[in-house]
Amino acid sequence: MVHQLEKKDVSWSGRFSEPVEKSVQDYTSSVNFDRKLALKDIKASLAHAEMLATRKIITKNDFKCICKGFKIIEKEIVAGKFQWRVELEDVHMNIEARLTSLIGEPGKKLHTGRSRNDQIATDIRLWLRDEIDFIVFKFFELRLGLVGQAEKHFDLMLPGYTHLQVAQPVTFGHHLLAYDEMFSRDCERLLQIRARVNKLPLGSAALAGTSFDIDREIVAKLLGFDGLCENSIDAVSDRDFAIELSSALSLVMIHISRLSEEMILWMSGGFDFIKLPDKFCTGSSIMPQKKNPDVPELARGKSGRVIGNLVSLLVLMKGQPLAYNKDNQEDKEPLFDSVETVKSTLSIFAEMIPNIEVHKDNMIAALEKDYPTATDLADYLVRRNLSFRDSHEIVSKIVSYAIKQNQKLEMIPLKVLQQFSKLIREDVYSYITIGGSILSRKHIGGTSSKQVKKTARLKKTRILKQLRTLNV
Ligand code: ARG
Repeated sequence: MVHQLEKKDVSWSGRFSEPVEKSVQDYTSSVNFDRKLALKDIKASLAHAEMLATRKIITKNDFKCICKGFKIIEKEIVAGKFQWRVELEDVHMNIEARLTSLIGEPGKKLHTGRSRNDQIATDIRLWLRDEIDFIVFKFFELRLGLVGQAEKHFDLMLPGYTHLQVAQPVTFGHHLLAYDEMFSRDCERLLQIRARVNKLPLGSAALAGTSFDIDREIVAKLLGFDGLCENSIDAVSDRDFAIELSSALSLVMIHISRLSEEMILWMSGGFDFIKLPDKFCTGSSIMPQKKNPDVPELARGKSGRVIGNLVSLLVLMKGQPLAYNKDNQEDKEPLFDSVETVKSTLSIFAEMIPNIEVHKDNMIAALEKDYPTATDLADYLVRRNLSFRDSHEIVSKIVSYAIKQNQKLEMIPLKVLQQFSKLIREDVYSYITIGGSILSRKHIGGTSSKQVKKTARLKKTRILKQLRTLNV
């Protein structure tokens, strides 16, 4: 059945000889998701109207009426009382129709010198700019918690792993600060992308600009944009800023996912390195003894959808000829989803990380089970003028011996060690204990407790300083 769409309802229906099918309306409508941009749409419209009035393209009185109308609409939207109509297609036409129903003629003048194509590009940029600021703010919160834990556990020793096999002793603080390095690069990336997002498309109109004597600088200033998009065709058509943001958000989730994976391992019986308070865990409906790390597991899982969203956006853009195509309407949902996923994940991690409790004894016991200072013994022999390759060979033999004897390296008597190499002396023991190994790695970027304490403090100061510059 053909739904009877009244011609006056849709602003573009003038050249159409018959109403659009209901199924086509439903298929092409975006208002159910792009209404998320409503307040940004109003903000951009107000700036556009002010510029039109300044350039005498509309009258001062028109502008006054437009402001009045938008005040009412904004209230309706915030109160959840705005009547969104699918037949009006998108957020722009819903708001414009309501404006005209409230203020009449001046509402119809608002669209002078613009198009929904530059409107939507502007709305997304305005929205993303605020979302990036919020995400970076949440990141700083999370990072402060992480660095706080690193400071607290600056000298707590545990195995560092390669291939998930015990490799060398590290401090827990150092391990946590590795994640802070990743997160600090994530923040840096987000802020670099923000600078490219923060450019004004309005004025590009449908694709070729407008014949009206507009002033784009005024609009940019009113909206807090740092500059203008300098080619009208590009401005309405490309979404690379959204794609690179999705890519940065995917990396955020990959980093979070790696941390999650470690937390899951550390909470498992085999490791038993950490404990999460009950309020961050859930139980099993069948196994009464279970306490599951659902939050890290979900975060690991959610990284998949954020990566999926990135792929959607890349493929969405790939085949499009210039300039605007309706395909671009499909950018909203993946973008919204990635932003929401990262926001909720960072928020819950910011709450959870400071609550991690550690099982110190299990961490140290895991170190003592293995031979994590074998490299230190090899380095010792190199210091006594042996080549590293020869020293590696000798230490391999010592380790085989120790395994057979079920003995830790530092428990092997000097006499026995000297049977493997005459270069070994009494002082060897200060190098091959776990504490000695850690203590010796005191350079910048090393795992020594002194270095970790210093780095954690430095990071904390930096984060607090950056936090003050954010306008959230
Ligand atoms: N809903 C559209 C989008 O998200 C807005 C622009 C529509 N422009 C058009 N010419 N149909 O991209």
